[in-house]
Amino acid sequence: MSVAKKEYKRVTVKSLIEMKQSGEKISMLTSYDYSMAKIVDAANVDVILVGDSASNVIAGHETTLPITLDQMIYHASSVVRAAKRALVIVDIPFGSYQSDSKEALRSAIRIMKESGAHAIKVEGGTEIKESVSRILQAGIPVMGHLGLTPQSIYKFGTYTVRAKEEEEAEKLKSDAKLLEELGCFGIVLEKIPAKLAQEVAESVSIPVIGIGAGNGVDGQVLVVHDLLGMTHEFHPRFLRRYMNLYDEMSAAISQYVDDVKSRDFPNENEQY
Ligand code: KIV
Repeated sequence: MSVAKKEYKRVTVKSLIEMKQSGEKISMLTSYDYSMAKIVDAANVDVILVGDSASNVIAGHETTLPITLDQMIYHASSVVRAAKRALVIVDIPFGSYQSDSKEALRSAIRIMKESGAHAIKVEGGTEIKESVSRILQAGIPVMGHLGLTPQSIYKFGTYTVRAKEEEEAEKLKSDAKLLEELGCFGIVLEKIPAKLAQEVAESVSIPVIGIGAGNGVDGQVLVVHDLLGMTHEFHPRFLRRYMNLYDEMSAAISQYVDDVKSRDFPNENEQY
């Protein structure tokens, strides 16, 4: 079913709720820097997520745990300068909101004040409900993230599909309801069975964005470097690669090396 798209000069959290209500699917992609965010924004992606996946993709860490609040603010402020249409959401990093709700609020305020972003994203449900409430009370829009929550990777042990068992699925459903009741404007569901994700999306009035969560949700999110095929060693089933940029970039850079070595570059027209 294709749905007429409404034009948005600037996507807001309210626009996302309208999109869910009208059946228009929401597109969301990560960006971590100005140049990429400019391309993503110009392509009319609705939401840019400054994900803590920057820890893996940009900094080369094995997990999302090491990235700091200062580093997230640096990435987010670069993205905000590029985004003219998209809503910009920033991951609040591991260690900056779990200890108590006052610290969580301080971290969220720093993100909003120092980067100019429009909203933050947190991982977890009932365990972090006080922090979520306090941040929301300060007028900061909050998106939740349930299912495979990479900040808890050492608790899970692996990056396999979550909530396949009844008990975990029930907890996920009640966490989604709780996040809605607290006042979150949306939820990301990562790597869970498509049937469960659809059930959650149908049970809440706020948009549910999936990554590896099937097509029955209100929108999709991917890491932009994965979509472009820059991270060629990563092959999850849910990932659709639209380019093989790793190979194209390697070929272009090798050609540059050859041209320098052979003195072909620069030629007469490429100098003053
Ligand atoms: O950090 C990130 O990129 C994310 C997405 C995978 C949803 O949280």
